[in-house]
Amino acid sequence: MESNYDRRSELKAFDESKAGVKGLVDAGVEKIPRIFIHEQNKHYNVSDSSCDSKFSIPIIDFEGIDKDVTLRDNIVNKVRDACENWGIFQVVNHGVEVTVLDEIIDRIRGFHEQDLEVKKEFYTRDFSRSFIYNTNFYFYQAPAANWRDTIYCSMAPSPPNPAELPEICRDTMIDYSNKVMKLGLAISELLSEALGLKPNHLKDMGCVEGLSLLGHYYPACPEPDLTMGLTKHSDATFLTILLQDQIGGLQVLYQNQWVDVITIPGSLVVNVGDMMQLVSNDKFKSIFHRVLAKNVGPRISVACFFRTHNKQGSTHRIYGPIKELLSKENPPIYKDTTVKDYVSYVQSIVLDGNSGLEHFKI
Ligand code: OGA
Ligand code: NI
Repeated sequence: MESNYDRRSELKAFDESKAGVKGLVDAGVEKIPRIFIHEQNKHYNVSDSSCDSKFSIPIIDFEGIDKDVTLRDNIVNKVRDACENWGIFQVVNHGVEVTVLDEIIDRIRGFHEQDLEVKKEFYTRDFSRSFIYNTNFYFYQAPAANWRDTIYCSMAPSPPNPAELPEICRDTMIDYSNKVMKLGLAISELLSEALGLKPNHLKDMGCVEGLSLLGHYYPACPEPDLTMGLTKHSDATFLTILLQDQIGGLQVLYQNQWVDVITIPGSLVVNVGDMMQLVSNDKFKSIFHRVLAKNVGPRISVACFFRTHNKQGSTHRIYGPIKELLSKENPPIYKDTTVKDYVSYVQSIVLDGNSGLEHFKI
């Protein structure tokens, strides 16, 4: 009880500073506060668990995809293979210019590194606000806090009022989201074809109509082995398109081993989310992943979540395994649900290292 009480007040004091993990680093902490200590990390060296793996996640080149039918078929095959076996791949020559990628990283960094008094105005745990900045969404519920500050904004289908976005990243967030929406649409066509469906099948289901943008800032950590940047989870999305800078630290759980997602300049990481695993009836896999804390940084990443679950869009749309994929030999594995119900369930169990999908099995 005593230690629980302490923990709660320490969390509260930290949260009320509104300065985030970056604030601790700026203040020169050499020991991380105990609210950030992941007890299980004390027993082994987390960074040792990253293997110089015999595995590496698939890299797919989209160059020429619209010009050559055979090439496109080849890409569809690679995408199918990646989504069935891994649930994640890196894409190069995806059509989003390097300058656009650099710009969004730069602006997300700019938000987190701007004057504290300006930044504080955006710090909130009120999830009805359109722009949210805080340190971890599950700060009070999770057993240990993560070494990371994040901004969050739902960009589509109903764009935010630009006046509600911080000036420093306003235009870039809008521009970047539009470009990622286009890429997401193109990828949804490849995924549909990879499932043996018409190219517009997943689009017509609304899988790529909603997009939320998360801008993560992982400051350098003085005791990286004691904490995590982002704990093990799978994404409660249809699809996630992630941009990471050159620092590294993202890992995926593949065949019971943590495998580093190597950084490739100009690339984007695409992963299948839980909702895609559900509608594909387990044909495509939603992979567990995490981000290690590092003693170098800051690391910046931008995650675009394709899903529609709050306020706007087809909130009440029902999703279940796609009928065309089912047969006697392949009966439905999951119950019907809505994205809203799925996300609410996952939020209620708080990233405890399990997948929400188990709960939705028939
Ligand atoms: C996420 C995520 C990874 C990263 O936001 O769900 O997995 O590299 N991010 O920040
Ligand atoms: Ni994720």
